[in-house]
Amino acid sequence: MAQEIEDVFTLLETAKTLFKSHFKNEPNVAVCAPGRVNLLGEHTDYNDGLVLPMALPLVTVIVGRKTDGPQCRVMTTSEDLKKNSCTEFDCPLEDRESLTPGEPSWANYVKGVLYFYKGTLSPFDAVIVSSVPLGGGLSSSAAIEVATYMFLDQLNGEKKASEVNKKEKALACQQAEHKFANVPCGIMDQFVSFMGEKGNALQIDCRSLEATLIPMAFPDAAIVICNSNVKHTLSGTEYPDRRRQCEEAAKILGKPALRDPTYDELQDKKDKMDTVTFNRAKHVISEIGRVTDGVAALRKADLTEFGRLMVQSHNSLRDDFEVSCKELNELVVIALGTKGVYGSRMTGGGFGGCTVTLVQQSAVNDLIGRIKKEYEGNATFYICSPSSGAKVLSV
Ligand code: GLA
Repeated sequence: MAQEIEDVFTLLETAKTLFKSHFKNEPNVAVCAPGRVNLLGEHTDYNDGLVLPMALPLVTVIVGRKTDGPQCRVMTTSEDLKKNSCTEFDCPLEDRESLTPGEPSWANYVKGVLYFYKGTLSPFDAVIVSSVPLGGGLSSSAAIEVATYMFLDQLNGEKKASEVNKKEKALACQQAEHKFANVPCGIMDQFVSFMGEKGNALQIDCRSLEATLIPMAFPDAAIVICNSNVKHTLSGTEYPDRRRQCEEAAKILGKPALRDPTYDELQDKKDKMDTVTFNRAKHVISEIGRVTDGVAALRKADLTEFGRLMVQSHNSLRDDFEVSCKELNELVVIALGTKGVYGSRMTGGGFGGCTVTLVQQSAVNDLIGRIKKEYEGNATFYICSPSSGAKVLSV
């Protein structure tokens, strides 16, 4: 009843076949980078806070090879992206300023990474295929960015690839998103797409950029992602507005970021800020605490406690941060009414996209069945275990 997840080798074959038929040549480089689901710690990354995402088995694959140029030709097959659309632009060998965002919009992620890439560029042909649903809050954009970075590294050779560390690469991809997609995102998505590991969630301290693997070996439990199929785009005003409100709150509190104040300090300054600003700060401060508590719960294999924190997180995102929507709330309510569910919450930026539910294995079918029956929209499901970060594939 859940979606079959196309495995990376099937995607690779699709990409290779298309490359050969379109570019009349064999690709000699192949890479992949995953999307992510965030388990706890939403809208905390750009507040220097803690997050707890995991990499997904949903991935973006890029195959290709260097050419004599002068252009980069990039083709994609994804159904969501325009089917079999190919775009060309001059490879910015000397002047990266010549690269500017434009249409098609999916290519902006590629161009943005070229712009910020820490290394030499050369013209190339490439095909991109992806199993990460677009606009589903599962970081389809970070998956393209990180795969593009990996791809450019491979064109430069392994030795060059190891000269820059993954943190710097993730930061370059984040800058690409800021400048070329106009989304002032935090570092979570690009970071976990590079650094996720099979069997583990990743706690990221978004201030120190320290990443800690958190083992997720719970054979009796499953993580079910449910796509509301309400498309979200973060390039509207909501995301930047939230970011600004958080910065404003930190300023009033006299702190560098919302990572720093305690809840008591916030209470003390309650009369210095309007209710909206107060509520935004309340969400962020409590959510950072939930990540710490959630990690402790996972280490004790206390899934009941972890589930309780997920529900608190959802309620806080719904009421205080106001980034949920009717459909996501409906999905969470249905999930929480199902026996065997530990917890459920919206995940990602919000305003549509997906929920994530931690549930007993034995209750997965029941959960999906109930949502299919009771949800007013048309939901799709992925049963996912924590998967590995970006990697090189053999062509
Ligand atoms: C989007 C952004 C992330 C993060 C989440 C909310 O996915 O890209 O950086 O801010 O929203 O937690």
